[in-house]
Amino acid sequence: MVQYGLLGTIGAVALLLVALRKFLKQSNDECKEPPIVRSTIPLIGHILGMIRYKVFYYQMLRDQTSAPIFSVPVIGKSIYVITSPQLVSTVQRMTKTLAFEPIVAMATQRVSGCSPQGNSIIQYNIDGSQGDRGYVITFFKTMHPALAPGPSLDAMNRIMIQNIAKSADALATSPVNRLNLCKWLRHELTIATTYSVYGPANPMADAKVEDAFWEFEGGLMMLLVNVLPSITARRASEARIAVGKAFQRYFEKGEHLNGSALVQARYNHSREYGLSMEDIGTFEAGGCLATLANTFPTAYWMLAYIYSHPDVLQECRNEVATITTTKPGEDGGRLHVIDMTTIKASCPVITATLQEVLRHTSVGSTVREVVEDTTLDVYALKKGNTLLTPANVLHTDSSLWGANTDTFDHRRFLRAPGKKMPSPTAFRAFGGGSTLCPGRHFATTEVLAIATVFIARFDMLPVGSWPPPDRGNAQFWTQILGPNLDFEVEIHERKELKGVKDKWAFQLSESKVVFAMAAEDLNEVGKE
Ligand code: HEM
Ligand SMILES: *[C@@H]1O[C@H](CO)[C@@H](O)[C@H](O)[C@H]1NC(C)=O
Ligand SMILES: *[C@@H]1O[C@H](CO)[C@@H](O)[C@H](O)[C@H]1NC(C)=O
Repeated sequence: MVQYGLLGTIGAVALLLVALRKFLKQSNDECKEPPIVRSTIPLIGHILGMIRYKVFYYQMLRDQTSAPIFSVPVIGKSIYVITSPQLVSTVQRMTKTLAFEPIVAMATQRVSGCSPQGNSIIQYNIDGSQGDRGYVITFFKTMHPALAPGPSLDAMNRIMIQNIAKSADALATSPVNRLNLCKWLRHELTIATTYSVYGPANPMADAKVEDAFWEFEGGLMMLLVNVLPSITARRASEARIAVGKAFQRYFEKGEHLNGSALVQARYNHSREYGLSMEDIGTFEAGGCLATLANTFPTAYWMLAYIYSHPDVLQECRNEVATITTTKPGEDGGRLHVIDMTTIKASCPVITATLQEVLRHTSVGSTVREVVEDTTLDVYALKKGNTLLTPANVLHTDSSLWGANTDTFDHRRFLRAPGKKMPSPTAFRAFGGGSTLCPGRHFATTEVLAIATVFIARFDMLPVGSWPPPDRGNAQFWTQILGPNLDFEVEIHERKELKGVKDKWAFQLSESKVVFAMAAEDLNEVGKE
């Protein structure tokens, strides 16, 4: 009995040890999926949360976990949400298994409404199994050189800046002093941007085409849902066709040959893969989303912040004075020249304010598809699920930005001796990695140009009070929170400038010096 008992005990202990070894081994070798954050309502709770709170829902879930990545289960799939900048960097390197191409391929057809032939060109080789050639695979690389600092960016910047100067002149001489700031910015920046991209035959200069473009933009949600768009999104899909046709005519006449290197690169790329002229036209409506949808909201938030804080406005005016030279002009007036070449370095407060505006109003996410079972750090990601890096989740993390993360601090990004700067990878306004916004240099110059000319020339007061940001205006295809499109301001030329025959101009030399607006730019800073 005793012996049996002893044997039994030894056997049991041995079994336990084997089990324990297996268990320990398992917990070492086998990773688990990122921890699940549950909703109070089973099954559909997360979907309801996403509909109600949009991208801010991920911020609410983040506050329930300390994990660097968490899972949000939704009907048979999981969305993985990244909360840590370290994991962001790793994800950005894993471009094959955590891929962007399938997402673009899915979105392109819905956004552009291209033909079935066009769609099959887009869908070809999105997983890279057929080699390096594929419309989506080479698309991003094609656009980068045209928008990187250098002669083609300079050419675009010059056209943009001349247009902004014209807009400011028109505003200064206009008998109307009350205007809708958002719509004014949207129109003026649309004109400035599209002339610099498309050249003198810019199709968006036609008010009907511009209106159609914003009609299309406003109906994007239903176009993306893509259930009978000709019925559920009739006006938006008709508007999209109108914009597409205008661009088709533009390309057919060869007008892009007088446009930027950017539009030529996009056109060449599409022709190279055999896309029809009709599809090239319709794709350009989608292309305008990237170039137009985020800049005017950024400019709006920038001006709204500066003009609602008189002390900040004064600080910015002092900085603009340092890049402005004044000389005698015609008719006894003066000529003021604002030098934009070094603004990002010479006007640190204005630039830091822009960075804080971008931090504060970013509502976009970078999206990746898990194309095969993948280990990310200690986590197992399952094929077919989606990986999200919502900018707002990183931008509101108090462990990264400090306890005052919710406050707008226009000096947050200002460098000072001994001051600890936030980690550049935690700044996600322009995305990052292979999908980092190639237009960031152009976009920041544009917003700084409009801000600078306002600061130099105008006083502005809200009709009523400045409306607070409305989270309901976050769209998931834009990066920047949409402003209130019904809001009016009173604008007057500054008292000091009244009745004087002064003229204003911008100056811009070569864009040799890169200013770091993204972590990726840090290596380039100051390079000649
Ligand atoms: C303040 C304004 C802007 C912001 C905040 C912004 C932000 C972004 C972000 C976050 C992405 C990455 C999307 C992703 O990873 O899924 C992106 C992509 C892109 N951006 Fe920008 N952007 C701005 C203005 C511009 C401008 C003015 C241009 C061009 C002149 C531009 C051109 C592009 C292009 C070509 C892409 C690639 C994706 C696409 O074609 O849709 N962006 N942008
Ligand atoms: C481009 O501009 C030139 C000179 O302004 C003009 O003659 C020409 O018709 C324009 N269009 C094309 C396609 O070259
Ligand atoms: C586009 O293609 C034309 C003709 O092949 C070429 O001359 C031009 O340099 C290309 N432009 C860009 C920006 O790729």
